[in-house]
Amino acid sequence: MTSAIGKVFILLLVVLGTFLLIGSTITDLTGGEKDVSAVGKVDISPEGGEEIFWGKGRCYTCHSVGDRGSAVRCPNLGVFGQKFALAIGARASERAKLRSEKTGEEYTSTDYLVESLAKPDAFVVEGFKNEMAIVFAPPISLNVDEIKAVVAYLQSQDGEFDIDSLENPSEVSAAYFQRIEAATAAGGGDPSAGEVVYEDNCTYCHMLNGEGEEVGPDLTGMGTKGLSFLEDAIINPAKVITKGYETRVVVENDGRQTKGLLMRDDPDEIDIVKDTGDVVTIAKSDIKEITIDETSSVMPGDINEALTVKDFQDLLSYLMLQKQVEEGS
Ligand code: HEC
Ligand code: HEC
Repeated sequence: MTSAIGKVFILLLVVLGTFLLIGSTITDLTGGEKDVSAVGKVDISPEGGEEIFWGKGRCYTCHSVGDRGSAVRCPNLGVFGQKFALAIGARASERAKLRSEKTGEEYTSTDYLVESLAKPDAFVVEGFKNEMAIVFAPPISLNVDEIKAVVAYLQSQDGEFDIDSLENPSEVSAAYFQRIEAATAAGGGDPSAGEVVYEDNCTYCHMLNGEGEEVGPDLTGMGTKGLSFLEDAIINPAKVITKGYETRVVVENDGRQTKGLLMRDDPDEIDIVKDTGDVVTIAKSDIKEITIDETSSVMPGDINEALTVKDFQDLLSYLMLQKQVEEGS
């Protein structure tokens, strides 16, 4: 009996050993796992950026650099014909100079390069459409160090690699790096697209930076509350109801019920805002009782079901950016 178990045990060890051996051989053959230790360590240099530009960053699918690459539909980032007489390192200085002249504010060539990746719609190259990929959002999802490496590579195209401008960024670049970090922290997402999602779904109930409606709480500075708070607040609004925004149920003498937020409470009448945004005025003399329903929020619980996964991700990254408090407060 014991020896039978022993044999089975030895057989198992042999089988297991064989699997491990085959597994590691396959891993070696495919070159897998070798890079695992290098993940997260990005080489912020022209060489590190070059690897990303022609690899993970997928820049080469739209851009060529001089006569390297085969993409033709987007601006060539090297010297190419009359339109691109300067490679992007030098071209960025020209574009930055024009911007400074126009706005009167200091703006460096690095600021331009960082902006072209962090917020491509801020400046659209003449003759092209606003079709630049959001390279820090899925599916490309470069992190902030990878973006810095790519900028180093772009700087080096007829310009100067300036590590200081990446390690000690100007105010303009720093704000863009923050934008990318916030998006990455939110699981990837495009804050510009998120702003549109926000405007379509949230402004008619919330104020943000002085704009919107006052049904729900002001969302200015919401990013400081963190990602999981925001996720919860949208996926399951009733879980934690913000103080002062409890849902009231008003029962009138004739049995009619109205559910919503108490927006106005005057001596002879009250206003209730329903989750549809409709305002109902009720005379106090008609009211039988007012109770608080702790299980439901006026904020609809199914908003995120109406959003695509991408919309939701974009929305979160936009909200995570809302860290500044309104001036004067
Ligand atoms: C889906 C296509 C696409 C991908 C992918 C893409 N871009 Fe672009 N890029 C564009 C388009 C279109 C423009 C021109 C419109 C604009 O200025 O936003 C542009 C503009 C630029 C500019 C400004 C060029 C100038 O003349 O001022 C830079 C710099 C740039 N891209 C760098 C990159 C880098 C680096 C990557 C990879 C990390 C990348 N792009 C990925 C389409 C793309
Ligand atoms: C019909 C009105 C309505 C709509 C639409 C709405 N909300 Fe709300 N929201 C509320 C109300 C009321 C509260 C307070 C009650 C609660 O906590 O559930 C609230 C609470 C919140 C909170 C918590 C705020 C805090 O300080 O605790 C966040 C975050 C939030 N909403 C985000 C959003 C986002 C993002 C959208 C759009 C996708 C949205 N809301 C759409 C009404 C709305």
